[in-house]
Amino acid sequence: MFPKTFSPLKLGPLALKNRVAMAPLTRQSAALDGTPTDEMAAYYARRARGGVGLIISEGAYETDDLSCKAYLSQPGIANAAHVAGWRKTTEAVHALGVPIICQLMHGGRVVDPRCLRAGESPVSASDTQSGGWVLYTDSDQEKHDRGITGDWPKVTFPPARALTVAEIERVADGFAEGAARAVEAGFDGVEIHAANGYLLWQFVNPKTNLRTDDYGGSPENNVRFAKLVCAKVREAIGPDKLITLRLSQDGVDDFTGAWPGGVAYARSVGAALADCEADALHWASFAWADNRDPDSDVPMPQAIRDASGKPMIVNGGIAEGADAEAVIESGAGDVVAVGRPLFAHPDWAHIVRSGEAYPWTPFDRKYVVRPPLDHALCYPADYPAPDWNPDVASRQP
Ligand SMILES: Cc1cc2nc3c(=O)[nH]c(=O)nc-3n(C[C@H](O)[C@H](O)[C@H](O)COP(=O)(O)O)c2cc1C
Repeated sequence: MFPKTFSPLKLGPLALKNRVAMAPLTRQSAALDGTPTDEMAAYYARRARGGVGLIISEGAYETDDLSCKAYLSQPGIANAAHVAGWRKTTEAVHALGVPIICQLMHGGRVVDPRCLRAGESPVSASDTQSGGWVLYTDSDQEKHDRGITGDWPKVTFPPARALTVAEIERVADGFAEGAARAVEAGFDGVEIHAANGYLLWQFVNPKTNLRTDDYGGSPENNVRFAKLVCAKVREAIGPDKLITLRLSQDGVDDFTGAWPGGVAYARSVGAALADCEADALHWASFAWADNRDPDSDVPMPQAIRDASGKPMIVNGGIAEGADAEAVIESGAGDVVAVGRPLFAHPDWAHIVRSGEAYPWTPFDRKYVVRPPLDHALCYPADYPAPDWNPDVASRQP
């Protein structure tokens, strides 16, 4: 089934066995000092065994400088202990023949205040303050399990201050140093996170970038920081490692957000990224074809792919094989990234490819933060284990 989705692809320097990538999914399951755990290695290896062609790790903080870390229990790639911890994951995933890249992120104005040092302000493109956000989860059962009554708590953030140009360079250097450590840890490349409300998104998005210098005021200027990061990362890790750049309209504090200018703005962003050092771009969304532009029906990843000439990884609401095939067939993308379905169904790629009937668990924004979880499934521990056996030879992609 789905021959396009399950055809091989050369993406930058990497040979992928198929076009299904595991989307980056924060689990907040590192040690408090950011060291990746054995549990994480088992979690990623389980998804590698499930047949994906590429794994993109959850967002890792690349430095302890300038309030980069966004969450408690977020993994880092900021020191030697982090490198040693991640090496267990990369070795376990490589043993199953799957490449894995490390997503590097800086939280910007939406870092958990508990990650800030005393007196430290979060940083952003401009002097702005996030309106805060409600945690991903929305299940009443989970509310009960976590002892929460009333509305879900909103996470709020202090006012952020604009980065100086010298600090922009420093943050970009931090990404490059993190990328070098990621390679040392065995990763096959990195993804630069410029999506979902974090620092680089705050520059790309005209709503949060109010700058009037070279880093704001036009689509070209708004992506300048992301391009600088890509250039420094390329210099640090060379041509043999994959670099992807992730973009979105959504932010964690702007879930229904739309870029002012819609598809036309997306095209300008794509054109400005045509000569960036990333091998591929990655569109993040909860519904990949939803462009939120009343004047156009062109999906955003399609617009950016056409304008940039770069291969595109497309993410968002791809729940079935037919959804994946439609992305590739339509020309909107070259690879699909699957997120939430892989929480409950680590064998998603094998199952979909077989075309066999399967009792899918409906997925929603549930069980995605940290009540006690069985990390093999990322669903509550009493959730029945899937009966799929991915080791049956005929089922191997
Ligand atoms: C619990 C959770 C954690 C996430 N963590 C990250 C992350 O670390 N980095 C990132 O770029 N996106 C992250 N995302 C967004 C997903 O990569 C993806 O864009 C989103 O889940 C929609 O894709 P899906 O419909 O395939 O799940 C996260 C999403 C969820 C639900």
